[in-house]
Amino acid sequence: MIVLGIESSCDETAAAIVSDAASPEARILSNIVLSQEDEHRPYGGIVPEIAARSHLEHVDHLIKQALDDADVSLAQLDGIAATGGPGLIGGVIVGVMSAKAIASVQNKPFIAVNHLAGHALTARLTENVEFPYLLLLVSGGHCQLLIVEDVDRYTRLGTTVDDALGEAFDKSAKMMGLGYPGGPIVERAAASGDGTRFKLPRPMLGRKECHFSFSGLKTAIRKQIEHFGGEEKMSDQDIADLCASFQTAAGDVLIDRCQNALKQFRQRHPDGDTLVVAGGVAANQTLAKRLSELEKSENIKLIVPPAELCTDNAAMIAWAGLERLKAGQTDPLDFKPRPRWPLDPDAPAAIGAGVKA
Ligand code: KG4
Ligand code: ZN
Repeated sequence: MIVLGIESSCDETAAAIVSDAASPEARILSNIVLSQEDEHRPYGGIVPEIAARSHLEHVDHLIKQALDDADVSLAQLDGIAATGGPGLIGGVIVGVMSAKAIASVQNKPFIAVNHLAGHALTARLTENVEFPYLLLLVSGGHCQLLIVEDVDRYTRLGTTVDDALGEAFDKSAKMMGLGYPGGPIVERAAASGDGTRFKLPRPMLGRKECHFSFSGLKTAIRKQIEHFGGEEKMSDQDIADLCASFQTAAGDVLIDRCQNALKQFRQRHPDGDTLVVAGGVAANQTLAKRLSELEKSENIKLIVPPAELCTDNAAMIAWAGLERLKAGQTDPLDFKPRPRWPLDPDAPAAIGAGVKA
């Protein structure tokens, strides 16, 4: 089975071809990602209108390139998948329309993939991970702990009451004058820093449930910068130490929240032994290393996909589409792109104030 995937929900235009080859190494036939970073950098963040126009300009030739690289023709495809949401709606529409057009002309199934399911199922593409598993999904827009029981069955245990972790990385980087996107820059700066120098808060640490909050950490970063009299008064070492201290605090919070979630996961699935980390922040090697402490202390397997498959890409969308196609789940050509699309529709939309679903 061979599936084309298209991703266009944020600031990457991407197209990929994957197959259901038995060996994970043989599955990705092509995987092309065009980042719009340079177009958004002058604005210090993503401008939705610029993103949508750029997706429109590039999606066709990226699809062609993905087919050429894989040496696959449209006629050989078994299905065409695109991110159907959640995300910036202008971009999602571009990907969905392209996929529907190909599906309609070729008379092949169309699969609308939930972008978060793409992240959630990546570990099955790269490592054949079996259901059920616990998932820590950490990206620019989401920070959630979920039990993944099947291709389309997710139980949310926790989410953020304010910022996502990637958002906190990005906003902190901006405050420190480091540029966009913040995650990779903070990680690089932190490599030469002292993670114990600044005492930063660990929001939610010790609380019984599995929710997150990162706005207090972001505010503490702002106060530290103000203490120096502005980021321009900070030396490179000060910046490195603040970045490293931020990562230490974030790591402590993630470990504490995952411990709670593992308890709840095991109540439901006593034999459950796998924690998967996914989403752009999972590309952070320091945090991945911190989370690996849980392997010993909690007796679990930690799976972190390769960094290039943690950040947004189309191979994960093609793979989730392939899994859905195999399960007989396809979508009609009148599918409407969804700006919001929770993985667990039964989870409350709001927990306390301003919780992100
Ligand atoms: O999954 P993703 O590519 O897009 C969304 O679906 O949001 O995640 C993007 C987020 C951004 O906030 C980016 O700063 C963060 O992931 N990120 C990182 C790293 N690489 C990307 N955060 C920390 N460390 C990294 N190495
Ligand atoms: Zn993403």
